[in-house]
Amino acid sequence: MILYRREIPEDAQQIEQLLDQEFGPDRHKKTAYRLREGVAPLAALCWSAERQGQLIANIRYWPVEIGDAKVPALLLGPIVVAGDYQSLGVGRRLMTDTLDFARTAGHAICLLIGDAPYYSRFGFSRDLTLSLDFPQPVDMKRFLALEFIPGALIGVSGMVRKISVSS
Ligand SMILES: CC(C)(COP(=O)(O)OP(=O)(O)OC[C@H]1O[C@@H](n2cnc3c(N)ncnc32)[C@H](O)[C@@H]1OP(=O)(O)O)[C@@H](O)C(=O)NCCC(=O)NCCS
Repeated sequence: MILYRREIPEDAQQIEQLLDQEFGPDRHKKTAYRLREGVAPLAALCWSAERQGQLIANIRYWPVEIGDAKVPALLLGPIVVAGDYQSLGVGRRLMTDTLDFARTAGHAICLLIGDAPYYSRFGFSRDLTLSLDFPQPVDMKRFLALEFIPGALIGVSGMVRKISVSS
């Protein structure tokens, strides 16, 4: 049986190992990581899946801002499922559960960099990011968004940035 639960601090090492396995150690060079540096993930939305005490999947979300107007948004990722457990619906379960939590919590916009053929099934679309910029280098075809509140991205433009911490 697979247990889905909130990420706990004790997961950290196994998550790093899983991410290294599935994305390679160079993953830290990806520009999405620049938006996460020094920023805590949103704990209520970060979930893990375990089987017999072994961590087999994880999903995390980070707060970001868009443009000079500093429109708040979520940045989904990374999501990772261990090789032996891929294509069994674990990723889908983590995606649908946490997107529901985010919607219920009142978030309006979710962004990610990823494969459109996978994420489109959850409602993510490249069309919604055409007025937005993302720190380069990134393949802009993989820059996708989901509106939890229909129309939330209408009139929103500019660069996705790390959240500014008010003093
Ligand atoms: C991508 C990932 C999170 C999906 O989770 P998962 O639990 O394996 O996938 P699910 O069981 O939810 O969904 C399986 C379906 O997604 C498809 N799929 C999986 N990864 C895909 C991708 N990168 N692009 C398109 N489709 C993909 C499978 O072919 C399968 O299709 P089907 O439902 O038509 O049979 C997981 O496979 C993973 O961590 N992969 C390693 C990292 C990676 O490749 N990331 C690339 C995406 S950014």
